[in-house]
Amino acid sequence: MIRFALPKGRLAEKSAELLAQCGVDTSVLAEDTRRLVLESKDGQYGFFLVKPADVPAYVEAGVADLGIVGKDTLIEEGRDLYEMLDLKMGECSLCIAGYPARRDVLTNPHLRVATKYVNTARRVFADREEIEIIPLHGSIELAPVTGLADVIFDVVQTGSTLKANGLVVLEEVFTGITARLVANKVCLKTKAGELLPLIAKLREAVS
Ligand code: PRP
Repeated sequence: MIRFALPKGRLAEKSAELLAQCGVDTSVLAEDTRRLVLESKDGQYGFFLVKPADVPAYVEAGVADLGIVGKDTLIEEGRDLYEMLDLKMGECSLCIAGYPARRDVLTNPHLRVATKYVNTARRVFADREEIEIIPLHGSIELAPVTGLADVIFDVVQTGSTLKANGLVVLEEVFTGITARLVANKVCLKTKAGELLPLIAKLREAVS
């Protein structure tokens, strides 16, 4: 059995579609259920439905053989796994964003940055002497709006969340953030016979 760690949320549907295109029986993923472990009807595939940020942990540990996860999460998590393929979906950028009228805030000696990407933000702002990283779990745009932070460091896909909250991109830090196929290093060897043909199909599907 090939075990996948699949992200819940915005990549979920596209991930299932891509796998189905490659012959994986994903019909069980369309079921309305709160179950987090699902098995394909033919018994060939197992699916763990996890928070996107947790996909690398499941794959690194070998609980899942393969995972689908955003490059933003891979940069943030820095896990020991193989990044096999750019799946070319869910494209976004990692940006610094804030109020358009307060662009000069970036030159403030003391800067407060709200983010879900704490490790990455520390690296991005490493050359600044006074930086306060404010870790949040979601609704990041709320931080500058309420005065909790000066700017945010977050993913921007359509830009509609920024726009709806009166914010703009001040600096694009990483572009080309897309979903990636990742593999557990040991499983890729021990289950090569099962995994490599599927990876080849996925490569063909996205190329
Ligand atoms: C992400 C991100 C932004 C938004 C950007 O949040 O943190 O808030 O998407 O997308 P957009 O440019 O298309 O508007 P997500 O929707 O994952 O929810 P969260 O706030 O719970 O993290």
